[in-house]
Amino acid sequence: MDVLVINGPNLNTLGTREPEVYGTTTLADIEAGVVAQGSAAGLTVITFQSNHEGEIVDRLHAARDEGTRFVIINPGAFTHTSVAIRDAFAAVAIPFCEVHISNVHAREEFRKHSYLSDLAVGVLTGFGARGYAMAMDYVIDRLSKE
Ligand code: DQA
Repeated sequence: MDVLVINGPNLNTLGTREPEVYGTTTLADIEAGVVAQGSAAGLTVITFQSNHEGEIVDRLHAARDEGTRFVIINPGAFTHTSVAIRDAFAAVAIPFCEVHISNVHAREEFRKHSYLSDLAVGVLTGFGARGYAMAMDYVIDRLSKE
């Protein structure tokens, strides 16, 4: 497997969730978009969404066993709380991009800190659902050079 796209808690409700903050694109639309984009470049792309921290940790462990080359993750609220997901990324050592639909730096104070950003290759925040496509564009270019 080349690329794993993980979405954390509440992102399954995209489309109806606070549309003034997150827009109206559904998670199904986002996932179909990144799968098509990666497939067109010859990459195998798997998507995964969970509202449960431990399931995301387990999925990262499995990703290492599957030989996953890159992870794109929107950790949702776990961004700001999860030492466990941070430790999982450190343990599996798979490079990753952190994506946020909203600009977390333009919102509440507690959203300004991420437990993941300093381990990430890069962070895309505030570009709406387009951030996933921007991350996949980077991944396609990066993996084509490996
Ligand atoms: C989010 C930002 C987080 O602060 C929030 O908890 C989310 C979504 C985003 O995509 O903008 O669930 O990650």
